[in-house]
Amino acid sequence: MCGIVGYIGGNDSKDILLNGLEKLEYRGYDSAGIAVLNDSGMNIFKVKGRIAALREKVDTSVQGSIGIGHTRWATHGEPSENNAHPHQSASAQFTLVHNGVIENYYEIRDEYLQNVELKSETDTEIVVQLIEQLYLNTNDVLEAFRQALTLLKGSYAIGLIDNQNPNLIYVAKNKSPLLVGLGDDFNVVASDAMATLKETNRYVEIEDKEIVLVQKDRVEIQKLDGTVVEREAYVAEIDAADTEKGTYPHFMLKEIDEQPIVIRKIIQEYQGEDDTLRLDDNIREAMKKADRIYIIAAGTSYHAGLVGKQFIERLADIPVEVHIASEFSYNMPLLSEKPLFIFISQSGETADSRAVLVQTKALGHPALTITNVPGSTLSREADYTLHLHAGPEIAVASTKAYTAQIAVLAILAVDTARAKGNGLEFDPLQELGIVASAMETLTDQKEEFERIAKEMFETTRNAFFIGRGMDYFVVQEAALKLKEISYIQAEGFAGGELKHGTIALIEEGTPVIAISTQENVNLSIRGNVQEVAARGANTCVVSMKGLEKDSDTFVLPQVHDLLTPLVSVVPMQLLSYYAALHRDCDVDKPRNLAKSVTVE
Ligand code: M6R
Repeated sequence: MCGIVGYIGGNDSKDILLNGLEKLEYRGYDSAGIAVLNDSGMNIFKVKGRIAALREKVDTSVQGSIGIGHTRWATHGEPSENNAHPHQSASAQFTLVHNGVIENYYEIRDEYLQNVELKSETDTEIVVQLIEQLYLNTNDVLEAFRQALTLLKGSYAIGLIDNQNPNLIYVAKNKSPLLVGLGDDFNVVASDAMATLKETNRYVEIEDKEIVLVQKDRVEIQKLDGTVVEREAYVAEIDAADTEKGTYPHFMLKEIDEQPIVIRKIIQEYQGEDDTLRLDDNIREAMKKADRIYIIAAGTSYHAGLVGKQFIERLADIPVEVHIASEFSYNMPLLSEKPLFIFISQSGETADSRAVLVQTKALGHPALTITNVPGSTLSREADYTLHLHAGPEIAVASTKAYTAQIAVLAILAVDTARAKGNGLEFDPLQELGIVASAMETLTDQKEEFERIAKEMFETTRNAFFIGRGMDYFVVQEAALKLKEISYIQAEGFAGGELKHGTIALIEEGTPVIAISTQENVNLSIRGNVQEVAARGANTCVVSMKGLEKDSDTFVLPQVHDLLTPLVSVVPMQLLSYYAALHRDCDVDKPRNLAKSVTVE
């Protein structure tokens, strides 16, 4: 969603801000802007649309060694140049960028800003106007900033510049991610380390309700009461090259191709000595102790959770419930006596999941986060973390994180089963090795999937994916992939459920894609394919070797029964990719979407 970059140092900040914002493009945004302070004052450039347009608008002759930049994903007020950040206070003394949502926006406006003419429709503007009003009373910027923060309710990551002081960026956060990057005679601020990796790989975390005073050669963290906090920097282990597309036309295609590498990396990372699995003992104990596991996630991570439930229940004999994060609070189930919450999140920043974590922590329940970003909010706030080792995932459509989540869940389930003394024949690392090779066989056949995508999706407005058992979980993910990047209305259905209503939508040429990888449902799903074909559907069957029929569209290489989702999803990802490509959609940055959804 929204992104923040800030720079203070000896160089011109303009390009650093623009390059940083470009690196944040993947998170999704609809407008952008930068503010650069120099002797002539604050220079602000904003656009509705892409960073490329912002680059064109920025006056190249403007130079300034302190600046802040922002990409905005509209929440309050339409996407427009006027609503884009940075926003300024009435006198233009203060300039501010903000991620998050100010929940008491109306209350602050009505109580403190009656005499201020607001220039935008955003909740952000009230923050900068409030700071100025408080400054008029206190004549102390830091004190005004502090007082403003105590009044704000909601989530925020803030970068503030006082144009009377070109030596300082005021920074604060609550519930929205923000980091300070340390350099040699410069420092940076970023909502995601990816934005400033070119400048530095040394970062300092900021905790909620802290203020950070960022100068070019000094960073001071304070609590809201003014107490100074000492915190060690850490090295962000992201290879800057992993954030580039290289020779690929799109990040999504690169990330689909990376899946076998990621699976092999997971095997390596989780391989212990003498055929054991390498996992934190505390996680093992927490799993063993749990009498019920609650998996909380959103979108693709939720779909991985559905598969994970099967692993944990079938192998480790622990009952599992999987919940959509945004619904959990409203439909909270009766909890067991010894619950363990597992949060699955590629980004580790999803606000809906975090809201559940805050709630369950308050109830005193232990939590494990499975994420691609150790150090992310969900990782820091949970008791334990399992790392996906998938490398940065830039395309909005999640691919390699999904398969990594399933692989790590399989390892976790087997480890728990072993710890509980359940005798298992299943060797997850060996089976994952077979999966990695099968994935390669699939990614080597891209032309075939491009051809099928053309045949199935070229002109259609809707599509259905059907499956049973394990395949039902994968068709839900397949449908999400197709709709989010190609804008084709798609649904993933349980094969047997079609007859209970949805089959009414099948007409001549409606695409129906069936997955069949499980012996126990092979005949029934094929029966469902016949039913829709008899009503004119354009059918495509993707089956697993050993279960195939001559008429099948594609036969997948065989892998262990439990791990079929890791393989059957790859053709679905490629079909979605080519469907979107041939419809001229923006594959990596689909409309209206954000990579990490940091507002509830
Ligand atoms: O970062 P998270 O895994 O928590 O994100 C959850 C969803 O927002 C995410 O999976 C989303 O559904 C993807 N765009 C799907 O491709």
